[in-house]
Order: sequence, then structure tokens, then C-alpha cells
Amino acid sequence: MTTYDIALIGFGGVNRTLAELIATRAEGLRSELGFGLRVVAITDLRLGSLVRPDGIDLFWALALGDGSETFAEHGGSADTNNESVIRTCTADIICEATFTNPDDGEPAVSHVRWALESGKSVCTTNKGPVALRGAELTSLAEQNGVHFEFEGAVMSGTPVIRLAKQMFAGLKLNGFEGILNGTSNYVLGQMEAGLDFEAAIVEAQELGYAEANPAADIEGYDVQLKVLILANELLDAGIELKDVQRQGISTVTAEDIQKASRERRRWKLVGSARRNPDGTVTAGVTPVALPLDHGLSGVSGATNAVSFDTDLLGPVTVSGPGAGRVETAYALLSDIIAMHAAKSGVAAHV
Ligand code: HSE
Repeated sequence: MTTYDIALIGFGGVNRTLAELIATRAEGLRSELGFGLRVVAITDLRLGSLVRPDGIDLFWALALGDGSETFAEHGGSADTNNESVIRTCTADIICEATFTNPDDGEPAVSHVRWALESGKSVCTTNKGPVALRGAELTSLAEQNGVHFEFEGAVMSGTPVIRLAKQMFAGLKLNGFEGILNGTSNYVLGQMEAGLDFEAAIVEAQELGYAEANPAADIEGYDVQLKVLILANELLDAGIELKDVQRQGISTVTAEDIQKASRERRRWKLVGSARRNPDGTVTAGVTPVALPLDHGLSGVSGATNAVSFDTDLLGPVTVSGPGAGRVETAYALLSDIIAMHAAKSGVAAHV
């Protein structure tokens, strides 16, 4: 039976939940998927770093996160030592789930680069490296014969990227439009129900939807990155962040929402991209008061949906969770499953 050794870079909500899934579903994964997973390294800003080539007891590591202890008291280091751990640990696959930096993608871009350069595959939920350095890192993975997977960067565990790449073969994609941020969609829905803007954001944070800095959700930066990823991955747009126009929902007032409601409309933050007749792609993020019979107006809460405009089928819409710890951790698991299915380039301990 194949066992993949895993390093968890960042031990916040997403990678902790992945660790829980690995710890509690080990037997099911082995019998259903035909491989095992063993965590051999963890690095975390608060806990420091721990490398154990024979495997880390995940129940122990998860419990450690509740107190003030660090890995230093258990044979590890109080420092993250990310470069050293990533380059030298025995992991086959690095699961990168640190915070998204929308400016330059760091330090996650370096995490991914170090892993790929040292012959390790990477799965990440981090939008920064994918949106800002996606082409370069995909090429680096190919050069090193390893995988770079990032399903969780858009719509968390809902498999929109893989689904579109695999299932739309033979179709021409003219563009897409979608609701790609759970927090802003949740906030707009709660405001329509009468809740105050700030209170709705706090709720979204408590539910684990919001970014560390909720302005990323509210001001459209998060959707801007996701539109960029989808446009480049699925439309081969070759565009940069500056090419995606951005406007968030902070300008949408409670009055706007009530007025839209009276007019049988509903405000949504819509991310879209469209191929122009000359082959270029126009992309953007903007709040729109959609008519109630529009396909996206009924998408509520943290649910996301993206409607692809295809030449032979017309619109094809994919809907599912767009945020949440379990949903995003599942995306990492789905990336590992995809790597296993590809059966190439991933060194495994048998
Ligand atoms: N904060 C994001 C959202 C989830 O609310 O959709 C991660 O992309």
C-alpha cells in the first residue's frame, strides 16, 4: 500500500482540519482510495516547526495547539524554519495553507518554490501563489516532474477548476460570471434580512468564512484573485492582477438593498471574465443588483456559484461551498487524490 508523506505548512484552521481528516479517516482513505497519508513535518507561526520522519501523532499535535506550548518543548523548534523544513524533510507532498498575501503572494510563493525545486509536489489553498505566480510555478513543477495543485484556491472544496478542465474538453469557453466570495455573499444576505453590516462581518468571521483581514472579502480583493486564477487557468487569458477591475460591496448601503428588494432585485458581488472578439479577455469584480430571475440571485449564504458560457452547451453552472475549514481542507485532500490518480512524479513510500 502506498503511503504519501505530508508536510503541513501553516497549522491554522485549514491544515488543522486536514490533520483531523487524516487522523480520523485513515482506514477509510486506505480502503477507499488505496493509499495512506502520514504527516512528517508541521510548521506554524505560533507553534514553530517539528520534523518527525517516522510520522507525527496528529491527535497530540492538534491538542498542543490549544495551549501555550510550542514544538520547541517536544524536540522541534520555536522557529518556523520554513525553507530548511520544506527543502530537507522527507515529505512527498507539501500542503501549503498559510495566509493569502494579495500583494506579492509571499511567503507562500517561496514555500511553493522551495518545495518544487526540491522535488516535492505541492497542494495549496493559498490564492497568492496561484494568482500571482501560477504559470511560473506550474512550469517549475513540470521541470521537476512533480505536481502543483490548487483546487481550494477557488470555491474551496467545490471542484470547479478540475471539473472545468476535465469536463469541458471539446467545448469553447467564452467566459464566466460567478459569486466567488462566501463572506460578501453572506453579508449581503444578512443585510437583506435586516442585520447591520459590521455585525454580519463578525458572524462571517465566527463561521470561518472571512479572510484574516475581512477587507479582502468586502473590498473585492479575494474575488479579484479568484477571477484572475479562473481566467488564466480556464480561458488562457494571460492577464495580471491589474487587468482585473475591482469594486467591493462596502459602497452598497442598507438603503440600496431595501430599494433593490422592492424592485425584485438582489445585490451580489459578481466576478466575471469574457473573451472579446479580438481574443483578449476583459475581467472584473463589481457589485450588481441582479433581477431575481437571474441564475446567480438565488445563491445564498457562503455558497458560491460560477456560470460558464460555453459554445455548444450554453451556460453551465457549478454551485457549492465557497468557504469554510472543512470544505477547504477537503480541497487539499482532493488535490492529493488527483496526484495519486495521475500516478506520475510523486515519490511514494510503499
Ligand atoms: N474568505 C473567502 C470567502 C474564503 O469568504 O469566500 C476563501 O477564499
